Amino acid sequence: MVDITDITPPRSRSSSISTTDSNVALPSFESLAPPRPPTTKAEDETNVSIDGLDKDVRLKVDAGPGCGGIAWPAGEVLSRYIAYRHGIDPSHLRNKKILELGSGTGLVGIVAGMLEPTSEIWVTDQSILLDLMEINTELNIPTNQQGKRNVHVSELNWGDDLSLNQIPIKDIDIILAADCVYFEPAFPLLVKTLYDLAPIGKEIEILFCWKKRRKADKRFFAMLKKHFNQFIIEDDKPGEKEIYNRQGVSLVKLVRKK
Ligand SMILES: C[S@@+](CC[C@H](N)C(=O)[O-])C[C@H]1O[C@@H](n2cnc3c(N)ncnc32)[C@H](O)[C@@H]1O
Repeated sequence: MVDITDITPPRSRSSSISTTDSNVALPSFESLAPPRPPTTKAEDETNVSIDGLDKDVRLKVDAGPGCGGIAWPAGEVLSRYIAYRHGIDPSHLRNKKILELGSGTGLVGIVAGMLEPTSEIWVTDQSILLDLMEINTELNIPTNQQGKRNVHVSELNWGDDLSLNQIPIKDIDIILAADCVYFEPAFPLLVKTLYDLAPIGKEIEILFCWKKRRKADKRFFAMLKKHFNQFIIEDDKPGEKEIYNRQGVSLVKLVRKK
């Protein structure tokens, strides 16, 4: 029997980062934001160059809607990895259904959609980031003959009941998450969502990239370890791992424990 006591969210349905008591004031943005500077500034638009894409990703950034409105280092590392791997083995993304958690600007999911038009991607975050992700999707992903894009924007609050979500959760092949470990009260919510997305026995690849910041992050990995094994990604472009590791960024594959 799996012990899920510490991945049960404090509230069954949270529309934002939850506290255990609705009378407790939510923390300020400053206390939520990762302490290290992002790779982009609060300019209107920035271009992100990813080897393997024939054009830069045009990214509207906005420091207003929480820390997700700008692009963070782990997102760029994960984007570069999926692009490199796609160059070697396009079947990795071909015809795959992909879900990105805590997408912020949408960068990683948009890169996946640009790399492989046959894939279908849901970039997700809290409601405050949806407009920005929509703009960035429209800036980078062309519509097909039916007027549809292969990247969709959707609200997904960690810890929420996934069966209430419009995303075809059961069909998801790949989960992407970058720089989502930074706010302690959200740790059990994120672990619960990963747990719910990857039931035992389901073939699903979870690529999880993060930047080490606080000692408290260890609490997240202690929770995660109860249900997932971590495997360091070794098939990145030669030399890349050493560079991003030096910057405190790690990239792993998570596999649900049986
Ligand atoms: C540091 S940002 C990283 C954004 C993006 N993945 C990147 O690498 O640039 C963390 C993201 O997690 C999202 N997030 C935080 N708590 C969340 C929650 N409870 N449910 C869903 N998303 C959440 C934030 O809105 C933000 O977009």
